[in-house]
Amino acid sequence: MLLFFVGAMMLGSTSAAEVAVLPEDSQPIQWRLIWTTDPSTSATLSWNTTDAGKRHRVHLREADSSEEIILEAQRNGKYSAKSPELYYHHAHLVGLEPATQYHVTIESDGKRSPEMYFVTAPAADVPISILFGADSRSGLSERRQMNAMLASMVLESYQPGRVPIIAFAHGGDYIRTGTRLDEWSRWMTDHELTVGPEGRLLPIIPARGNHDLGELFNEVFAFPAKERTNYYAINLSPQVRFLTLNTETSIAGDQTTWLEAELKASRPNHRWLLAQYHKPAFPAVKPPWMNLTHWVPLFEKYNLDLACEGDGHNIKRTAPIRNFKIDPTGVVYIGEGGLGVGQRTPKTDRWYLRPPHAKTGSAHHVQLLTFDEEKITYRVVLLGGKLFDEHQFLVRSPEQRQTQ
Ligand SMILES: [Fe+2]
Repeated sequence: MLLFFVGAMMLGSTSAAEVAVLPEDSQPIQWRLIWTTDPSTSATLSWNTTDAGKRHRVHLREADSSEEIILEAQRNGKYSAKSPELYYHHAHLVGLEPATQYHVTIESDGKRSPEMYFVTAPAADVPISILFGADSRSGLSERRQMNAMLASMVLESYQPGRVPIIAFAHGGDYIRTGTRLDEWSRWMTDHELTVGPEGRLLPIIPARGNHDLGELFNEVFAFPAKERTNYYAINLSPQVRFLTLNTETSIAGDQTTWLEAELKASRPNHRWLLAQYHKPAFPAVKPPWMNLTHWVPLFEKYNLDLACEGDGHNIKRTAPIRNFKIDPTGVVYIGEGGLGVGQRTPKTDRWYLRPPHAKTGSAHHVQLLTFDEEKITYRVVLLGGKLFDEHQFLVRSPEQRQTQ
């Protein structure tokens, strides 16, 4: 079944040589829209320049207004790696209206980006979709093709009768070596391919992977300097709570304490409760990470709806798991990264990966999650648009959602 977007594949054929060339002036490049705070009222618009420049700002206007607001980037600096010479600029936009289209042009020292736009998250309980993927550190040609496909999927999702894709959660391992800015630069250039032909910016929700160690991750995604936590929770709609955890820092201790408080507070107030993080607790290839010990009991206690994992380089939907047994009330783990990296073979002899309760595979892919009042519809879309897996997760009982 061919679902989506063959037309966009041409975009993905941009050669590596073309994307590596950066302009030698203050031309804004490598833009990205980042969601790590309330996305119904805020967003961070980030971009780079190849010289420091003096004045970096954003021209912002609502779609149905001619009134333009000019906002200065609050954080500007040189990336903490020697080469290439590259400067980041972060404009944290606040006080936005929910479910509103904002047109933006980025300006550095008088040089402007094309006009683009983004849409804030809804404040109403309406159906939404997001994309989840991970592992784009190698297979760069495939990475670009995947990014172009994401843009096409987003464009198509805004057609009448479809559920809009409002964000892209990336579960980590963007690049091979987290301390190499040339690799980040190439990733950021490739990320521009997620901007649709109509100029729509696809908000990214970043998680840190084991290849993303070092300060550059904070500088790319506008986290505070020296931050080592990088875990946070946002509402994608009033009923969809989305947690981002960090498997690359201490798992137990502060993070697990934060996780329990977050789950306890969020579960009764949200129809859907999800988490993304990099290293799997129920892997399809590798041994489990320490989150199996510290996080899984909390996922089960507070009846998480879905755990989104990366790192393994395969396609995975586990059986629902509770107390190390298949249980229809348990937690399902999906993953494990296919935004470019070569794929591994899932170990289908593991008890939680066996059909008919589970489905696994090996192909470049992204996972499309659609939330409505009754269910999460889970789809795995392969590079080229083929549907590999489709499954529905029904809403939990009121008793399960009231767990405190
Ligand atoms: Fe990884």
